[in-house]
Formats: sequence, C-alpha cells, structure tokens
Amino acid sequence: MTQLEVQLGARSYPIVISRGFPGLGRALRRLGVAQRALLVSDHRVVRLYGRQVAAILRAAGFHTELAAFPAGEGSKRLTIVQQLYAACARARLERRSPLITLGGGVVGDIGGFVAATYLRGLPLVHVPTTLLAQVDAAIGGKTGVDLPEGKNLVGAFYQPRLVWVNVRTLETLSSRAYRSGLAEVIKYGVIGDSGFFQFLERHYPQLVARNPVLLRTVIRRCCAIKAGVVSRDEHETRGLREILNFGHTVGHAIEAAQGYQGYTHGEAVAIGMCAAARLGERLKLCSLSLRERLERLIELTGLPRMAHAVPRRQLLAHLIHDKKIQGGVLRFVLPRRFGKVSLIEGVHHAAFSAVLEEVFGSRRNVE
Ligand SMILES: NC(=O)c1ccc[n+]([C@@H]2O[C@H](COP(=O)([O-])OP(=O)(O)OC[C@H]3O[C@@H](n4cnc5c(N)ncnc54)[C@H](O)[C@@H]3O)[C@@H](O)[C@H]2O)c1
Ligand SMILES: [Zn+2]
Repeated sequence: MTQLEVQLGARSYPIVISRGFPGLGRALRRLGVAQRALLVSDHRVVRLYGRQVAAILRAAGFHTELAAFPAGEGSKRLTIVQQLYAACARARLERRSPLITLGGGVVGDIGGFVAATYLRGLPLVHVPTTLLAQVDAAIGGKTGVDLPEGKNLVGAFYQPRLVWVNVRTLETLSSRAYRSGLAEVIKYGVIGDSGFFQFLERHYPQLVARNPVLLRTVIRRCCAIKAGVVSRDEHETRGLREILNFGHTVGHAIEAAQGYQGYTHGEAVAIGMCAAARLGERLKLCSLSLRERLERLIELTGLPRMAHAVPRRQLLAHLIHDKKIQGGVLRFVLPRRFGKVSLIEGVHHAAFSAVLEEVFGSRRNVE
C-alpha cells in the first residue's frame, strides 16, 4: 500500500493506492465521521464490488445504506441528483455522515456534487474503480452534472477527505474503458516529465496487460502530478490547472460533435493530443520527434491517432464555444518538450485548419 497527499492546507487529503479494500474501514474511522454512511454507485459497479465494500463499511461500524443508478454518462443529470438527495434523507444522514462514491468518473462526479450540496456539505470519500477516475476524476475536487445544454455545466469544487484506489478493480474493466484511462496516463507523461514518458514507452506491454505492480507505480506517478497541479491552482484561477487540459480542447469538441455517442473520452483525448502535437510542431514549439514518439505510444496502447466520422461543422462549432476560447481567439495547451506544455493564445486559423485536415481526413470524408 502506498499513500500520497494532495496538499491543500487544512483541506489536505490522502490518496491511498492499494491492492484491495482491507484498511478502507479503518481509514474511514480515522476521519472522525459519523456512523451513518451512504454508499453511492452505479448498477454495474454495485454488482461487482457493492456487497464487498458495504460489508467492509459495516464491519468498521458504519450503518451503511446504498444508492445506485444506471451506469453511464446519461445518469450524470439533475434528476439523479434529486434521487440521491432523497436517499440521503432516507438514510437520515447528518452533517458529519460520510458519502462514499464507488465507481468511475460518473459516480464520482455526481456523488461528489451531492456531497458538496446536501446539508451544505458532507464528508466525501472517493473509491474510484476505473483507470480514468483513479488517475484523474477522483482527485482535484471537481464535481458536477451535465445539462441538456452541455456537459459539466452545473457543479462545485469540493475536495474529498480520502481517495482509496484499489488497483485490482481494474481487472474487471472493459478493454475500451481501460484504454480510455491510458490516454490520461499518456497525457501525464507529456505534461509531467520526460522520465515518466520514457518509462511508459519502455513498459507499455505490461501497461496494456494491466500488470498490477506496474499499475501501482504508474497510478502513483499520475496522482502525484495531478495532486501537484491541484495544490498550486485548486480553483483553476492561476492558469496552472489548464495544463491538465492538454489534448482536451479538440477532445471535448470531438465528443460533443458526436453527441457523446462516438469516441470515448480517452479516445477523443488521444486524438486531441495528436492534434495538439501536430499544431505544436507546425508552430515550431516542439520537435518532430516529440510528435512521433507521442503518436507511436498512443498507437501502441491501442488508442486512435486520427478521427473518423466526426462531422466537421459540429466539430468547429464546439471548438469555437470551448471554454478555452476567449474573445474569439483560439487557445490550446501545446507541448514544447516532454514535461513542458504551455497555453498558447491566438493560434492562427491557417495552422489549425491544416492540422484538422491531417487528423480528421479530407473534408469529403468527414462531412
Ligand atoms: N471531476 C473530474 O475532475 C473529472 C476528470 C475527468 C473525467 N471526469 C468525468 O468522468 C466521467 C468519465 O469517467 P469514467 O470513464 O470512469 O466513466 P464511467 O464512470 O461511466 O465508467 C465507465 C463504465 O465502466 C463501468 N465500470 C466502472 N468501474 C468498473 C470496474 N472496475 N469494472 C467493470 N466496469 C466498471 C461503469 O459502470 C461504466 O459503465 C465523465 O463524466 C467525465 O466528465 C471528471
Ligand atoms: Zn480527461
């Protein structure tokens, strides 16, 4: 078991990376929270791990109720939030009662939002079970839900008190969901440091094979990078947290252009990282070698480098509406070298269009 800490003064919290759930009950008790607890999950994860985790909580003395909803992004909406508020009330939670999320980023985001708002804030514990949630969504305090008008439009910054990562839960993850998380891992390789990127290049076969020893090392490194960024820019006000969006400007636009029915988030981010590297190379910010090594690693892990069937008009419309576009100026997080990315404003349309042609194929193919 290894542990690291997200340093946020009085709101600092540990991320425990382990190969099981034993110890979770004790760690919860150490938080000094009340005994009534609500375990929040989705139907798929509950079938896999719900009983086991609920038993651990009960054995640790927590009077545990369970609330679960259908798996998938479609549940990340306010009606589910309302159902969870009702579950909190039925479970007679009080201000110090912990809400524990068990699942992927969807469960963490909704459960986190409920914890942030019910009784103006319950102690929150994340038990992330997808690679994406373990290296990204469970850390940093962003919670929220989607509206019909757009993704993540309602939310709150709300830090958990504890994050418990059991790497063995990744064994049951579908290969598509697992690969999706690998895209974020590769992202940390680019924004983190060249040593970590080289490590991923060297060990990608074990990574793809979900070697648990390697996974623990990789997850720890990713969590440390994210924790470091979050500690320095908790509310995304200092321009530092934006580096986590490497690959996400184009990635989000792809997801939205496909109505969230096409590429997974990680697949879209993989394509977005290739687009950003090509743009960086074109603008002479980074070398050809960086772009080639990044594309190679993406390909070796089974992620896409180029996009198919993304409607160009919708893609552009979503790019223009992206939060990272201010005053009509295109802004991208672009690589300079491994371990160094920068937010570049005022990217010329010509450079960007050329990259779109390369990554999204000819106009005829995509419209
Ligand atoms: N808060 C943040 O900072 C942040 C960061 C990144 C992403 N997110 C959000 O995270 C969400 C995506 O998260 P995700 O990719 O984890 O998706 P998800 O939560 O939908 O999980 C993907 C699928 O895997 C299943 N699953 C989860 N754990 C499993 C396991 N161990 N074994 C088998 N199946 C399992 C789920 O039931 C689901 O069907 C998006 O809504 C995104 O906006 C939030
Ligand atoms: Zn992401």
